[in-house]
Amino acid sequence: MSRPEIEVRDLHKSFGTNEVLRGIDLEIGQGEVVCVIGPSGSGKSTLLRCVNLLEEPTKGQVFVGGTELTDPDVDIDAVRRRIGMVFQQFNLFPHLSVTENLTLPQRRVLRRGKAEAGRVAAENLERVGLSEKAAAYPASLSGGQQQRVAIARALAMGPEVMLFDEPTSALDPELVGDVLAVMRMLADEGMTMMVVTHEMTFAREVADRVVFMDGGVIVEDGTPAEVIGNPSHERTRHFLSRLLDPAMAELAEDGEGASDQVGGQVGDRKGEPGQ
Ligand SMILES: Nc1ncnc2c1ncn2[C@@H]1O[C@H](COP(=O)(O)OP(=O)(O)OP(=O)(O)O)[C@@H](O)[C@H]1O
Ligand SMILES: [Mg+2]
Repeated sequence: MSRPEIEVRDLHKSFGTNEVLRGIDLEIGQGEVVCVIGPSGSGKSTLLRCVNLLEEPTKGQVFVGGTELTDPDVDIDAVRRRIGMVFQQFNLFPHLSVTENLTLPQRRVLRRGKAEAGRVAAENLERVGLSEKAAAYPASLSGGQQQRVAIARALAMGPEVMLFDEPTSALDPELVGDVLAVMRMLADEGMTMMVVTHEMTFAREVADRVVFMDGGVIVEDGTPAEVIGNPSHERTRHFLSRLLDPAMAELAEDGEGASDQVGGQVGDRKGEPGQ
């Protein structure tokens, strides 16, 4: 791999006494697509949020495009412009049209003029297949369309890397495909992407690597065929079996007791909202 586009070194993050990330090392090369999977509370969102410093790491280093974000002297706003982020909730401005949602951050953050911002907005709406919704307001769009607008908004800023935190989890099943198709297009275009997702088909077909996290550490990191198809750790197998067939996993667990709850994370697994 050439110079990694994203590099995380010995990353730790605690909230009070709760150590949520316990030493993460991860490199993502230019144009690589890495899917991050793992149980609720394992630290996936926290890791993603540390990669653009929405959360400040307790210890360790994060580099994007060769710049150290964790350097106290770094111009964090300048680095953040190179990182696009898409959340489960689309966070569009309800009182602005689709086009205005795309032009506002360009004008405010990148200081682009009205004409240029409008042109870039139109280009990116076309990329996500929503040119005809340019004048519409978010409330009139489906969840899938709103998420595609959110992706176009991030793309309009010209990011070098894109971070996705469960971008399809809030969508009705029939709307998931269109959003994944846009992400697949971005992957094909060579965008560097880090994607927290439970969409195993997407991970299998689009990801170059899959990272399985549990209890704030990376348990397994490899190709989709390795991590999903032939996991080498029991924790990964357990997670995948639950994901692929939750009803069967519940049945199997009834006889098992709590002994397979790993990493002291029992209390962290339940009822944690996303992000
Ligand atoms: N801002 C915060 N303050 C305190 N604790 C937090 C904060 N953000 C996350 N945590 C805790 O960190 C742990 C990991 O949370 P995180 O959201 O990273 O997990 P996750 O793997 O993304 O889970 P999910 O699949 O449910 O989204 C949880 O125990 C959570 O309660
Ligand atoms: Mg999360």
